[in-house]
Amino acid sequence: MLILAFESSCDETSAAVVEMSDSERKIRSNIVASQIETHRLYGGVVPEIASRAHSEVISKITCEALESAGIKLSDIDAVGVTNTPGLIGALLVGVNFAKALAFANDLPLVPVNHIKGHVAANYFEYPDLKPPFLALVASGGHTSVISVDSYTDYKTVGHTRDDAAGEAFDKVGRVLGLSYPCGAEMDVLARDGDPDAIKLPMATIGNDTLDLSFSGLKTAVVNYLNTASQKGEQVNRADVAASFTKSAVSSITQKLSMALDKYGYKTLVLAGGVAANSHLRASLEKMCSDKGIRLCMPPLSLCGDNAAMIGAQCYYEYQNGVRADESLNAFATGSVSF
Ligand code: KG4
Ligand code: ZN
Repeated sequence: MLILAFESSCDETSAAVVEMSDSERKIRSNIVASQIETHRLYGGVVPEIASRAHSEVISKITCEALESAGIKLSDIDAVGVTNTPGLIGALLVGVNFAKALAFANDLPLVPVNHIKGHVAANYFEYPDLKPPFLALVASGGHTSVISVDSYTDYKTVGHTRDDAAGEAFDKVGRVLGLSYPCGAEMDVLARDGDPDAIKLPMATIGNDTLDLSFSGLKTAVVNYLNTASQKGEQVNRADVAASFTKSAVSSITQKLSMALDKYGYKTLVLAGGVAANSHLRASLEKMCSDKGIRLCMPPLSLCGDNAAMIGAQCYYEYQNGVRADESLNAFATGSVSF
């Protein structure tokens, strides 16, 4: 079936056409209009500006998505849209646009959870991938270890108790003078530094939980930089980035290793913007190879927010009978375990 999908939960407006069946998962088009340049001026996402920017481009990118897929609206079988979690004003733009489009064209409308969408990005890269498996979703707003029991049944088994992993990368990058969002630049900077130069705390909380905590690690970096500045000492920024990355990456790797042992899954699926981190990918490749686990990672183009991933998850929700009517709403917070 052909699905027209929308994503507008944060600072990317995206429309995509995906072709899905039980034997085929194909991206026909995936248009992403990023607002990063606009928000960079403010050092972070400004919610009202994000909503307005979504409104400005959503019609245009929908036409682009259909045109680039080589189809007409009348060829579409269902409409999928992210309705949770995210910035409420941003989500409402996508939800209302998708709702109007679906009902004006008499098409089924399917609400999709953004976190589930991130995981579903992997279905395009790995045509044989199917649940059950363990997943890590690490992005700017979320960091969760999830037991994916079926295409639609997700259970969170561990999560960050404070900052998301991407948020920690962004905040540390900001104090190092990098531009928002800092994850990709931190990734590159860390390659030139000594990961053992600065002793930093782990983001693990203890051995009896799969939860993580990145705020102590982030504060330790800020304190290190403040102390150095007070003493008038020069700081090697690459060493700071490398030491922070080592602690964040080994903490995540340790928790995922524990989760794999605990739940016995033979496949680990990585998802979300932080899944693009080369140090994290290398560390998980090693851990999974040592343990004989299959590791699935989306291509870099599908790690960040995009509508193709929402289209993939829409297919499985649709197959499971999920439909929304004209009362569909958006929710800023939403659990995957429903
Ligand atoms: O999934 P995403 O595009 O949006 C959210 O749902 O939040 O993730 C964006 C986050 C940002 O915090 C960004 O800095 C981070 O992913 N990120 C990275 C890398 N590329 C993007 N973090 C670490 N290393 C990267 N290479
Ligand atoms: Zn996301």
